[in-house]
Amino acid sequence: MIPVVTAIVATAFAVHYVLAFWAVGQLASAAAGVITAVLAVRVAWWFAFPGRGLPRNRVRAMRIRVRLGLRPGPGHATGFECWWRWGRFAAFRRSRRARRSLPACRRYWRPSEHSFLVGWAYRTHRQLAPSEEHAVVMAPPRARKTGWVAKVILHWPGPVVATSTKCDLFALTSGIRSVLGPVHVFNPQRIGGVLSTFRWNPIRGCEVVPVAIRRADAFAHAVSQKGVEDATFWAGKASDYLRAYFHAAALAGGDMRLVTGWVLSHDTAGAEEVLHRHGSDEWAAQLAQLRGQAAKTAETIRMTMSRALAFMGDPVLAASVLPSEGQGLDIGEFLAANGTLYLVAEAVGGGGEAPVAPLFACMAAEIRYTAALAGSVQPGGRLDPPLLMGLDEATQICPCPIPSWLADSGGKGITIITVCHGEAQLADRWGDHGKQTILDTSGVKIWLPGITATATLEAASKLTGDTAYTEHGQEHSTRHPIMTDAMVRQLPNGYALVIRGGLSPVIMRIPVAWWDLRYLLARVRGRAVAEVHAVDATIPVPDAMVPAEPWPLGDGFRPAPVSPGTPHPWNKAPAARRTNGNGNDGNGHAGGARDGR
Ligand SMILES: Nc1ncnc2c1ncn2[C@@H]1O[C@H](COP(=O)(O)OP(=O)(O)OP(=O)(O)O)[C@@H](O)[C@H]1O
Ligand SMILES: [Mg+2]
Repeated sequence: MIPVVTAIVATAFAVHYVLAFWAVGQLASAAAGVITAVLAVRVAWWFAFPGRGLPRNRVRAMRIRVRLGLRPGPGHATGFECWWRWGRFAAFRRSRRARRSLPACRRYWRPSEHSFLVGWAYRTHRQLAPSEEHAVVMAPPRARKTGWVAKVILHWPGPVVATSTKCDLFALTSGIRSVLGPVHVFNPQRIGGVLSTFRWNPIRGCEVVPVAIRRADAFAHAVSQKGVEDATFWAGKASDYLRAYFHAAALAGGDMRLVTGWVLSHDTAGAEEVLHRHGSDEWAAQLAQLRGQAAKTAETIRMTMSRALAFMGDPVLAASVLPSEGQGLDIGEFLAANGTLYLVAEAVGGGGEAPVAPLFACMAAEIRYTAALAGSVQPGGRLDPPLLMGLDEATQICPCPIPSWLADSGGKGITIITVCHGEAQLADRWGDHGKQTILDTSGVKIWLPGITATATLEAASKLTGDTAYTEHGQEHSTRHPIMTDAMVRQLPNGYALVIRGGLSPVIMRIPVAWWDLRYLLARVRGRAVAEVHAVDATIPVPDAMVPAEPWPLGDGFRPAPVSPGTPHPWNKAPAARRTNGNGNDGNGHAGGARDGR
């Protein structure tokens, strides 16, 4: 009996405890469920709506939200705005004007034909800007500026002129660009071992007065006048005389050596005599004025001219403007064939500018002029497909008059991307007014992380505008910047603050060329870098190029033979090419890089 009672009591206790534990477990799991649900709703709410409460640490909140692919806060573009204003449909709406030649379905399905990818907003929104809008990129060194420009170049539908202080743009884009058209390199300093594919004589064509004026203007205005009062006045004066020299040299059948000789010898008589002989008496009279100028004035003008021609003092650089037959570049053909031209140079010495900067500026001006002229006879009065001028490190190596170009280039089918380290660099080269013009006329403004120039940060912060926030413990709202200076400076790596026209600011993930699928595939197949035909640097300047009149500078200025150097390291050994044995591609052009692909 007793064991039975004991067993019953024990069973009752066991059942009681099991039931008790089960009830507590139920309660606990129910409580956990409620807490999880509340938290989930709270987090979901935070994800969807950034809220008007001012975060205690705005930088940290912005960085977390950006990294999670969320809208960073009030005032930033919403997802709908990103789709409506920046998406494929938005690009399509504006594309007819930019690319009249394309049918509507092609414009819709291939936005890269008329727009360029600026970045990705909130992970899923592709942000496109029309190809007729210029862009300015501001960032410190190593911030992926070049990577972004290279990505734009990879997908650009038309001809491209790209400047850089390194061969990075060439290495990232030339292989893919060579499928679209010929690839040319102009690298007189031989940076990175990549040799030039052509030489360019700026004097050829200067028999025509407007050409001489245009080229002399480009040379004179490219000279840095840092610290000089009335810089534009002196550049204008130098241009007045330089154009007469260019014209005279062209009439005499000479080249840059003749011009350099005249300028350095302070002797205008030779040029005047040539101009008189060819009936250009007005130009001769203009040149004669240089002798009549006050000593200090004449000295400043001569200094500006000689600085524009300083690169002629280096025989290797001088060789780049002395082409033999078939070594030149036909700019019209280059544009028509959707070519890509890489202008590579770097600053030497303390000047902060490359010695060939005036030459590059002149060439870029000539290409822009030819493109505008070609576009003026096309439907809509613009070049189709458009020309991209990707001016990386423009202030150092291609100081063209970007402020004035930006004003009317977009409507001519010429898009300019200016890359710089900050506003100070722009002001240094083009003055405060020029800097402001660049910022005003560049539709897309991009700030990458790491900028420390306070003026640039303040300007960026001011442009984002402000919005209402409720501070902790307060009931009313107060106005605060959408992005503070610190937030712009501390953007997460790989992201950028972008402002376009009248649209809300967007923080985007910036695409770079080295993660581009086409580039990666080309790399796997060993075709990422184009095989270009370098002009043989050992070819001496032919005697036929030397005019009958003795060179004022003597033989010292004739380019010395230069060792050809090893083939540049970017490429494999060149495959069999369709050459005629003298470095030309059979069309009389150096550097055709279609390389049988
Ligand atoms: N081909 C590549 N693949 C992977 N990463 C790269 C490649 N080229 C550059 N990077 C990385 O990207 C960063 C800088 O990129 P990029 O050269 O575009 O910057 P940048 O702003 O143009 O710099 P700089 O002012 O020196 O020209 C570096 O950290 C570098 O390691
Ligand atoms: Mg760079």
